[in-house]
Amino acid sequence: MGLLWWRFVSVIVALTTVLLCFNQVCHSQQAPNYTFVHEASTAPASASYDYIIIGGGTAGCPLAATLSQKYNVLLLERGGSPYGNPNITNLAAFGVPLADNSPSSPAQRFISEDGVINSRARVLGGGSCLNAGFYTRASTNYVKNAGWDPNLVNLSYHWVENIVAFEPPMLQWQSAVRDGLLEVGVLPFNGFTYDHIDGTKVGGTIFDRHGNRHTAADLLKYANPKGLTVLLHATVHKILFRTKGKQQRPVAHGVVYRDAKGVKHRAHLNKGSKNEIIVSAGALGSPQLLMLSGVGPAQHLSSHNITVVVDQPMVGQGMSDNPMNAIYVPSPSDVEVSLIQVVGITKFGSYIEAASGSNFGLAPTGTPQRNFGLLSPQTGQLGTVPPKQRTPEAIAKAIEVMNSLNSSVFRGGFLIEKILGPLSTGHLELRNKNPSDNPAVTFNYFKEPQDLQRCIDGVTTIERVIESRAFSNFKYPYLSIQALINMTANFPVNLLPKHDNDSVSIEQYCKDTVMTIWHYHGGCQVGRVVDHDYKVLGVDALRVIDGSTFNFSPGTNPQATVMMLGRYMGVRILNERIASEGFA
Ligand SMILES: Cc1cc2nc3c(=O)[nH]c(=O)nc-3n(C[C@H](O)[C@H](O)[C@H](O)COP(=O)(O)OP(=O)(O)OC[C@H]3O[C@@H](n4cnc5c(N)ncnc54)[C@H](O)[C@@H]3O)c2cc1C
Ligand SMILES: *[C@@H]1O[C@H](CO)[C@@H](O)[C@H](O)[C@H]1NC(C)=O
Ligand SMILES: *[C@@H]1O[C@H](CO)[C@@H](O)[C@H](O)[C@H]1NC(C)=O
Ligand SMILES: *[C@@H]1O[C@H](CO)[C@@H](O)[C@H](O)[C@H]1NC(C)=O
Ligand SMILES: *[C@@H]1O[C@H](CO)[C@@H](O)[C@H](O)[C@H]1NC(C)=O
Ligand SMILES: *[C@@H]1O[C@H](CO)[C@@H](O)[C@H](O)[C@H]1NC(C)=O
Ligand SMILES: *[C@@H]1O[C@H](CO)[C@@H](O)[C@H](O)[C@H]1NC(C)=O
Ligand SMILES: *[C@@H]1O[C@H](CO)[C@@H](O)[C@H](O)[C@H]1NC(C)=O
Repeated sequence: MGLLWWRFVSVIVALTTVLLCFNQVCHSQQAPNYTFVHEASTAPASASYDYIIIGGGTAGCPLAATLSQKYNVLLLERGGSPYGNPNITNLAAFGVPLADNSPSSPAQRFISEDGVINSRARVLGGGSCLNAGFYTRASTNYVKNAGWDPNLVNLSYHWVENIVAFEPPMLQWQSAVRDGLLEVGVLPFNGFTYDHIDGTKVGGTIFDRHGNRHTAADLLKYANPKGLTVLLHATVHKILFRTKGKQQRPVAHGVVYRDAKGVKHRAHLNKGSKNEIIVSAGALGSPQLLMLSGVGPAQHLSSHNITVVVDQPMVGQGMSDNPMNAIYVPSPSDVEVSLIQVVGITKFGSYIEAASGSNFGLAPTGTPQRNFGLLSPQTGQLGTVPPKQRTPEAIAKAIEVMNSLNSSVFRGGFLIEKILGPLSTGHLELRNKNPSDNPAVTFNYFKEPQDLQRCIDGVTTIERVIESRAFSNFKYPYLSIQALINMTANFPVNLLPKHDNDSVSIEQYCKDTVMTIWHYHGGCQVGRVVDHDYKVLGVDALRVIDGSTFNFSPGTNPQATVMMLGRYMGVRILNERIASEGFA
């Protein structure tokens, strides 16, 4: 025990030293010096621009940087800056924002009607400031089905990758997962690549080799400082419409936002029929804001006394979250702290990924607190009780029991599986008219039988990886798969849902331990709410460009494609405008 504890402490001391270096010295050298970022409280009561982008997230930042090359752009972000905040910039601090439920946290917790605890971004850079960093492109088939220009897609991915994507260090535990996947037949091995190809690969990461996170906010380095204004703590309350022509077609022409002090400001579009407002507020924020602005299902809007601009019943429909399930494997040997680096892309629609080591710093004081990294109850990831029972009391109990456990328990890692798609969908509704409050969202995990089958196949593959020869150094030989399943599902003690049936079937395991991998999407889908140019149907001068437009989550993990889409649409808008103005 003494030796083990000492080793645990040493690792933390060593890591802390490294992190301090990167916070204070290395990171500040890299933090960009943006002259165009201001607090919204310093903004005038009214001002006008060629483009107003709502949401400085994963799609909004690359989009704003691109449009600023030729036009006057305003980017409104409800959160603060990610720079200088080690909770965001350090790999080992993953989970700290997710565990912080205060209004100033860069993560805003929400609980879907399904009962799964989830999180959405509230910071410049959006989800790329909170995520596990895995960077991987969509398949060529996905690009084809989306109707995107494959050349411009590739150029746009490159533009993103030049700034934010890195090759991860492959240490012993992630290497064992990789070799285990190959041993059980997730073939071929495709090496290190951003491409989405069947088989096992090492993907990219937005963490550099020092463990520093690079986010969509870094893509603002590409911006033309003279063409861009970024306002922080600017919460948009409403998009303003006027009507034009005989048909009285609504045209978006401005927005109302509030600063950190609650003071109201307006921003308007400059005169010019090509100027636009673009909503990039994410899969929860975009449909919510459309509804708050009068674009949505008429009856629902009326029930909240919102004046209907366009009856658009599809706003808020097609909400999906890819279910994630995991098995925890305690290890007899040391493991590195890693977030996702390897992925097995199976032929049956299940993606196998893994994360190891316990991070630290989840306690409010910043002192080390026992946790399971990517799957810590502090962050709301509580697979040990079925979704609807994940109450604050259940979380508190899990944390308490966890803190009483021997530290050796925390040496190990999670093998996780998420399914493609998914096919199951749900919907989003307003709870009230406050844009800062979460809307009510239902994802209907595993409603479609094929989603459940893909989970079963994925968990079965994970079991085989755990039992592979390649993985044997990282598993206690006397712990059977059934014991590991029991342990994960029972952790910390006997919180497992009781079924008549004593042994837990994989099917039941999928349902009871379902968690989120935070890839939720939909609500403003292409073909239903926006057209193929991402223009909102039924109104003029308004587009939605972000993860809310997806029918399925792209690639094994979406962020590469979300950033790509911001750049891609920025270039397309510039090109179309140059072409039409050239001929005018
Ligand atoms: C914990 C976590 C781990 C993840 N891990 C990975 C991973 O490893 N790899 C991967 O590829 N993907 C991962 N993802 C998913 C990925 O990060 C998201 O899919 C992606 O960031 C979504 O981008 P978006 O632009 O659609 O929305 P966001 O990035 O959320 O951007 C929306 C922005 O709009 C702002 N906003 C919302 N409403 C308003 C308003 N009314 N006024 C002003 N601003 C507003 C928000 O503050 C936010 O900044 C993860 C996500 C999370 C949360
Ligand atoms: C913790 O686990 C180690 C290794 O399994 C063991 O040697 C030690 O006795 C345990 N300590 C306690 C307090 O249970
Ligand atoms: C940031 O840029 C401004 C304007 O160019 C300059 O005055 C300032 O010194 C710069 N700050 C740093 C830390 O480089
Ligand atoms: C785009 O890149 C992918 C993967 O790197 C490649 O397979 C594809 O052929 C490229 N497409 C074009 C049009 O260059
Ligand atoms: C809508 O307005 C009516 C009449 O003013 C009021 O009674 C009702 O409470 C309002 N409903 C909501 C949801 O605000
Ligand atoms: C980091 O997170 C901790 C815990 O939530 C919080 O107390 C602290 O203020 C955060 N640091 C910054 C710079 O935001
Ligand atoms: C798993 O748990 C069940 C009860 O939940 C028990 O009957 C079974 O023996 C356990 N299996 C192992 C291998 O521990
Ligand atoms: C119990 O579980 C087994 C295997 O998981 C399953 O085949 C069986 O149908 C279940 N029985 C009941 C009564 O649920």
